[in-house]
Amino acid sequence: MFDLQRLVRPNIWKLIPYSSARDEFSGEAKIFLDANENSWGSPLGKQYHRYPDPLQHKLKDKIARLKHIPAEQIFLGNGSDECIDLCLRIFCEPQQDEIIICEPTYGMYEVSASIQDVVVRRIPLLPSFQLDVPSILQAVGPHTKLIILCSPNNPTGNCFLSPDIETLLTHFSGIVAIDEAYIDFAHQPGFLQRLHEFPNLIIWQTFSKAWGLAGLRLGMAFASVEIIQLYNKVKYPYNISQLTQDAVWQALDQHELVQSRIQQIIHQREQLSKALQQLTIVEKVYPSEANFVLVKMQQAQQVFAYLLQKGIVVRDRSRVILCEDSLRITVGRPEENEALLAELHAYAQQIVSSSN
Ligand SMILES: Cc1ncc(COP(=O)(O)O)c(C=O)c1O
Repeated sequence: MFDLQRLVRPNIWKLIPYSSARDEFSGEAKIFLDANENSWGSPLGKQYHRYPDPLQHKLKDKIARLKHIPAEQIFLGNGSDECIDLCLRIFCEPQQDEIIICEPTYGMYEVSASIQDVVVRRIPLLPSFQLDVPSILQAVGPHTKLIILCSPNNPTGNCFLSPDIETLLTHFSGIVAIDEAYIDFAHQPGFLQRLHEFPNLIIWQTFSKAWGLAGLRLGMAFASVEIIQLYNKVKYPYNISQLTQDAVWQALDQHELVQSRIQQIIHQREQLSKALQQLTIVEKVYPSEANFVLVKMQQAQQVFAYLLQKGIVVRDRSRVILCEDSLRITVGRPEENEALLAELHAYAQQIVSSSN
């Protein structure tokens, strides 16, 4: 049985959050002398001298319409990294609680857990890169608070099977968090529209990937109203800058442009995958539902160093479990992908001529 209070750290459950000047007054006024701001303005003029809305109402309303999720079920963080970090701080008691991750996966789960001094149980994915559900459930102990799944997964690029995720959501009485940073590039819709079915589900998404706004730092957590209230309790009062709130609010009008960019990226991903597959040094291009591909190849570390010399930086994942000899390559614009392919081709030729 799901019992939110049992899962939350007692000090967080009892916490009385900081009440900022902007929390306490939200009506209309002519003169604001409540927050020790600078009434003269900023060097940039009459902007940015006021603290931003702590709960980002205007922006959340627009995101709510786009995602078809009530605004009360949305938390906005300084990147999804903040959504991940706060989740660990809400639920996991240092030196006592545990989380489960399925490796290989995004590295920040483990870093945030280590900062919080929480034990990480690492369950390897199956060789197919799918979830090993029985092993995950077996690893659950009395202090397991959280299972984190990344779907589509970084760095493997695949989505996990929905029935496997459902099994974890229904058989585990703690929190299941699904990181859907790359969901816009996937064939399947993800779990957002199924949030109401699972009181223990948290979904993280981001504006850094499909929306191309990594520099603004805006991530989202979607969950029950009760879980979002806990998020709001523990966050810094003004965690999202006015600049970010305004810019993302404006960017949201460009939904169609973003959709067509997503289609372009998916098309480039398929082109790039096919072309990589043709190279003699490439052993396997794993199917991807994200904006990157994982490529298993001969001499991966040397290839990585060679590309770097040529001014092309990719991600060396060759020391990561199940990703031996693999590089993770972000799908770029056509000319970037062509430049990459040309260098990989040149490298492959070098091997051939040195072995002759
Ligand atoms: C799976 C996953 N989650 C989250 C993030 C971080 O996203 P953000 O820029 O919103 O902090 C990344 C970044 O690469 C990622 O790969």
